[in-house]
Amino acid sequence: MSSCFRIDFLSAECYPAAKVGGLADVVGALPKYINQEKNHLCQVIMPFYGIEWFNKAEFETIHRGKILTSGEKKLGLKTKKYSIKQLLNPDLGFTLLAIDIPGLFDRNGIYAENNAFFQDEPERNLAFQRAYLDWILNTECPDIIHCHDHHVGLIPYMIKFCQVFQQLAPIPTVFTIHNGQYHGAFSWDLQYLIPDSKDEHKGLLDWNSSINSLSSAIRCAWNINTVSPQYMIELQEKPSYFDNLYKAEKEKSSGILNGIDHEIWDPKTDKYLDVHLKRSLSVFKKNHKVSLCNRFGLDPKKPLLSFIGRFAHEKGVDILVNYLRSDINKEAQFLILGTGDKDLEKQLNILSNNNESHVHAELKYDEKLAHEIYAGSDFLLMPSRVEPCGLNQMYAMRYGTIPIVNAVGGLVDSITSIPNAHATGIKLEGLNKINLKKAINSAVNIFNQKSQFTKIQNNAFQQDFSWEASSKNYLKLYHELKKFDNK
Ligand code: GLC
Repeated sequence: MSSCFRIDFLSAECYPAAKVGGLADVVGALPKYINQEKNHLCQVIMPFYGIEWFNKAEFETIHRGKILTSGEKKLGLKTKKYSIKQLLNPDLGFTLLAIDIPGLFDRNGIYAENNAFFQDEPERNLAFQRAYLDWILNTECPDIIHCHDHHVGLIPYMIKFCQVFQQLAPIPTVFTIHNGQYHGAFSWDLQYLIPDSKDEHKGLLDWNSSINSLSSAIRCAWNINTVSPQYMIELQEKPSYFDNLYKAEKEKSSGILNGIDHEIWDPKTDKYLDVHLKRSLSVFKKNHKVSLCNRFGLDPKKPLLSFIGRFAHEKGVDILVNYLRSDINKEAQFLILGTGDKDLEKQLNILSNNNESHVHAELKYDEKLAHEIYAGSDFLLMPSRVEPCGLNQMYAMRYGTIPIVNAVGGLVDSITSIPNAHATGIKLEGLNKINLKKAINSAVNIFNQKSQFTKIQNNAFQQDFSWEASSKNYLKLYHELKKFDNK
């Protein structure tokens, strides 16, 4: 038996292997920091996707096994082979294991087109979770199982109540909610995908007459947390789908603010940037701003306000587009990078192709350009309706870009707004076009008063959002749970 304290992270995304959103960044960074603690081994287990990154990387198969998965409902379950593959290089600072399940994950996409779920999503997720549990059952168990988001939300139930996994029941489970909007709900008709458990426990799978992976995880995990303290308060206090459930599970809930990976996000060494920060922040910013403006036909003398991310309802891009179409402050200019809602993409394309306009949109996912935008922008816009933590405001500040945000979730926890003397950004109190307009006008005024602008920029730049502090909170949590388990 190894003497290491082993923590297994289960996730559908992990940077750099497969990234759609912030989930990947967190799962690809936190283990590195946990592993800095002596005798700790945190590893990530994810699906083996048929995307380019996996085809190019080198893996070694360390285990082969079989699980039951669906065949035709009427004909019963089929046996499916799976294999656990370990990444040989590059060294990510943690062990990356990918579960290869032919027929289910060997597709050229993490999710289906436009980030929708594939039709066989419940089957995929259950096969992945069952393969993981089968593997540890037949090899060695971790000290802690840490599940991230609804894709792996049925593990706490399965190890507690499914007879086949009974031996695993003493392992403490932690469940982190990166995004409470997605529930992984599916019809009870598919319950045959879950191994047998007693009828008296099945209520723990149900919410509103469906099997609901998120609510089941909230009920069954030993401990749950959100990725910022404020987001947990919002889930408990504001009317939402699970209103009473979050309140009922308050005792085992907390909020731990995410950090960012200071090695990847370092303006002094960033591998995506051609010009690095040396002594002067303003020289660094100017270089990048001029190069972005030349590239996209914008004026470097005007303030540059950018948006980076998915065009999803929760990110409030519709409010921004509405503002850009009808109310735009012509002293400012806007750079948008992202993909998502097709209608918003269309409208941004029109705005971007209009020469008169002060808007340029790049409708794609582009990690390098994202880093360049953080480096070269004056302000970063985050008009989110919901923001469990938000990492972009932290990346922005690390590159001397001032965030303009709606005061929700992690944006409340990570930003001090004007007029505070220590302001690091601008907060909107309530998301609507009028408040957004006010905030953008304030930004333009600040930009025109150089000393105030530089002060806020420096305040933001001096913030420390590294994982050092947050990873300690997770470690504390794991050890408390383990103590409980040993009693
Ligand atoms: C999700 C949330 C975002 C959070 C990230 C990482 O993408 O929407 O707010 O920062 O997960 O936890």
